[in-house]
Amino acid sequence: MANPIVVRSLDEIKFWSRIMKEHALFLSLGFTYEQKQLIAEAQQFIALFERIEEKLARFTINSELSQVQAFNNEVYQAAAAIWSYKRKVLGLTLRCEIRSNNFPLLIDHISREAAYFANRLKDLNSGILAPKPEAIIEENVFFLRIMADHAKFIGHLLDPSERKLVEQAREFSHDFDQLVFQAVDLDSMQPESETKPILSYFLNENKVSVASLRDFKKTARELIEACRIKSNIHPLLADHTFREAERFLEIIDLFETSLKKA
Ligand SMILES: [Fe+2]
Ligand SMILES: [Fe+2]
Repeated sequence: MANPIVVRSLDEIKFWSRIMKEHALFLSLGFTYEQKQLIAEAQQFIALFERIEEKLARFTINSELSQVQAFNNEVYQAAAAIWSYKRKVLGLTLRCEIRSNNFPLLIDHISREAAYFANRLKDLNSGILAPKPEAIIEENVFFLRIMADHAKFIGHLLDPSERKLVEQAREFSHDFDQLVFQAVDLDSMQPESETKPILSYFLNENKVSVASLRDFKKTARELIEACRIKSNIHPLLADHTFREAERFLEIIDLFETSLKKA
């Protein structure tokens, strides 16, 4: 049977390398024409993650654990490097040394995703596969905040004349902010809050909201691709946030399965 660490590592790298590559693309498109150095750096990251994707294609679920661990280390370095690039861009933006079309919250958001990816690789290389109850709450805090941010980005990048959609995005933003606070409350009630009934209700409640946000993103993506609505949203960004919602739903499913087994 295939080693679960190998299977999970390859799956994380497949999902997040594409995400990292797209972040670099979005940043590069948001810079202004005179920010050539920052654009060139972003393009180097696109090439770096493309090489990682090519390397990944040579692995299978039956690959040697030691080779996968070495690959995890290599990808970890890349994730750490793009994280520090994103933090550098955030610093330049917050000090008003550059002005671009990349919102500070978006830059912070994509740096959090890079840190998450790097930490997943580190965990996998220390043999951590199944999340513990406290990790379930933390992971939900992370992803709920990511979802809340997405709703805010969509709301701000839609044309203001798209009043109905802007309103819907605002409602999702509010809904997810509430869920984030709920998760933070549960987090501070640890370890007493780690009961099976509380955790399973928590997961279920999150799942319902994420599924409806996912559907909203799917609709937005289709409307943007067909050029039926006015926005500054790149079609790939719409698809990107849709895929991240799908990922969160898959993770909730994994947690539910591990709770049932516990
Ligand atoms: Fe992302
Ligand atoms: Fe995201």
